[in-house]
Amino acid sequence: MSDGGEHYFSQTPDIRSEPRDVDVLLPDISLTLTSDHGVFSYGRLDDATRIFLESAPPPPASGSLLDLGCGYGPIALTLAARSPHSDVIAIDVNERARALTAANAQRNALSNVTVCPPEAVPADIVFDAIYSNPPIRIGKRPLQALLLHWLGRLAPDGTAYFVVGKHLGSDSLAGWLTGQGFDVERVSSRNSYRTLQVRQEREVR
Ligand SMILES: C[S@@+](CC[C@H](N)C(=O)[O-])C[C@H]1O[C@@H](n2cnc3c(N)ncnc32)[C@H](O)[C@@H]1O
Repeated sequence: MSDGGEHYFSQTPDIRSEPRDVDVLLPDISLTLTSDHGVFSYGRLDDATRIFLESAPPPPASGSLLDLGCGYGPIALTLAARSPHSDVIAIDVNERARALTAANAQRNALSNVTVCPPEAVPADIVFDAIYSNPPIRIGKRPLQALLLHWLGRLAPDGTAYFVVGKHLGSDSLAGWLTGQGFDVERVSSRNSYRTLQVRQEREVR
């Protein structure tokens, strides 16, 4: 992740709006998305996000998918395009980010995306998969609490994927998640960005 230290996770950015298009060009999907000031990775696709979208395992063909921390929507909308029969929920604390993701879903005719603040996710939904470029910059303890909270909403057979830079502590995060009782595997590593696959630990019979 390379977020330049902006306060992209403030809830209501008051910096002036200056929308700028970002082309998300992947081997299988092309989307044009609107980004804006006050939202993570203005005017460009973040390197970690690009690598994640190029190398993370594909989403399941159906079910409920979560993008934890959607920003202007590159992960959520790629999931929605790759898995048109799934229901993608995109959450973010940043109101401008949520508005952009919702508008970008419309712009790209992706009707299987619901955007909402984290606290509005219905309590009875469990997720078949979670994909996230998580907000490392909120700090270690808040990040751990955030991940534990949403990993608790994973279906028993569900899988979460997180992209984290080595320089931002991917290896210690992986170790910590293992210590919390999850099965953690590094499923890809490119340009110092790791994709971690996280599952509930299975009981040995
Ligand atoms: C590293 S950015 C990734 C944004 C986008 N997914 C991308 O790849 O461009 C992390 C996002 O998490 C959001 N965020 C921060 N704290 C959060 C929280 N408690 N719950 C949900 N999202 C949060 C930030 O506002 C930010 O948009």
